[in-house]
Amino acid sequence: MRVLLIGSGGREHALAWGLVQSPKLSNLYIAPGNAGTAQLGENVSIGAEDLSALVEFARKERIDLTVVGPEAPIVAGVRDLFEREHLKIVAPTQKASFLEGSKVAAKAFMHKHGIPTARHGSFDQWEPAVAFARTLSTPLVIKADGLAAGKGVAIVQTHSEAEQILRDFMIAKKFGAASQRVVVEEFLVGREFSLFVASDGNCWKLLGTAQDYKRLRDGDQGPNTGGMGSLSPIPWLTQRMLEEAVQKIVAPTFDALRRENISYEGILYFGLIWTQDGPYVLEYNVRWGDPETQVLVPRFDFDLLELYLAIAEGRLERFETKLKPMSAVCVVLASGGYPERYEKGLEIEGLEAFPLQRERSVGTLVFHAGTTLQEGKIVTAGGRVLNVVGLGASLREARVRAYAAIEKIQFEGMQYRSDIALGSI
Ligand code: AMP
Ligand code: GLY
Repeated sequence: MRVLLIGSGGREHALAWGLVQSPKLSNLYIAPGNAGTAQLGENVSIGAEDLSALVEFARKERIDLTVVGPEAPIVAGVRDLFEREHLKIVAPTQKASFLEGSKVAAKAFMHKHGIPTARHGSFDQWEPAVAFARTLSTPLVIKADGLAAGKGVAIVQTHSEAEQILRDFMIAKKFGAASQRVVVEEFLVGREFSLFVASDGNCWKLLGTAQDYKRLRDGDQGPNTGGMGSLSPIPWLTQRMLEEAVQKIVAPTFDALRRENISYEGILYFGLIWTQDGPYVLEYNVRWGDPETQVLVPRFDFDLLELYLAIAEGRLERFETKLKPMSAVCVVLASGGYPERYEKGLEIEGLEAFPLQRERSVGTLVFHAGTTLQEGKIVTAGGRVLNVVGLGASLREARVRAYAAIEKIQFEGMQYRSDIALGSI
């Protein structure tokens, strides 16, 4: 099969690594990819949001199946466009993508169907938003309605800070149209976790659990980032807790989608928090997580391409989504200065020690996130540069392997957290 994978981050390198293990794969194209994906398939220089060029490529190259990493093309309607051209693709429709594309609509959906989530108000005017924020105790949470590259959520400590953030979002339109409307909600206290579920429109299957580390520095200090590390499975999430999350959140979400006549085909990511009153939804995402995918794919005890085909062909019911009984820990190596300004084009040393083997018996995997090839050398090309994944029989073993591998890798300004998975072993 000829497969096109859309995206360019560490998530996509991990998905590419999963796909190339399938005996059914003949050619893999990644648009636009990175220096890591170039070792597993052919990078195509089409941006993930250039939908018409992607369709054109899929048609010309007789692509049998397209799969999608990031949210932007999904929310922009890539599935609908491909389908109109009779091209096979796995991604939720634009109609279904409101779950991530509009926090206002996602909250209304949860409220209507009794799915546990933080108490909230939705606003398109500044004054009533401020007035509502004053009725909540602090800290409180302000979210831009639309996509804001993971930066549209602010946790504020005082009411006057809330007023200022609402001014930035709604009046100064910090994120353009995406922040004209906002959700203001109460702050939930608890432990965050993520569930990944596949759905073919008829049935859904749990794929796994993972936890990510959003703050830049050790001890969950510093600014929020796209994610500085991840682990899977989550050791504190017992089978009983998982069942409760499925019963209170996952099953009701798919039931509600059905009642709304929305067929969901693709991956649904549940960003949850375990509070004193059990599980609540923080957010839905209509895709895999980054860097959670990097710790999930190596644990899959099934063929990733077959999973995508089962979703595309409505055969998920009989597909077995087993995981290997092993642990994975991912540490993100980031550019100096990230998540603010950082330099690009810096040479990365030590990667030759980690050729990405296709077989799964390896103990360490180095996925590329922001890298590119420049005059035959691999150089930095983004904020999050590499994702070093350790695998092992326990989280402790996986963690030791990840950090041992990092010792061998170097680029100027490289920064990473030294406490990924430490609290969990
Ligand atoms: P979201 O994009 O909605 O997941 O928000 C990003 C991050 O903000 C979450 O992963 C949480 O760490 C935090 N967050 C969002 N909503 C809340 C909330 N209601 N209470 C506490 N933390 C939250
Ligand atoms: N790791 C968070 C996300 O993928 O949205």
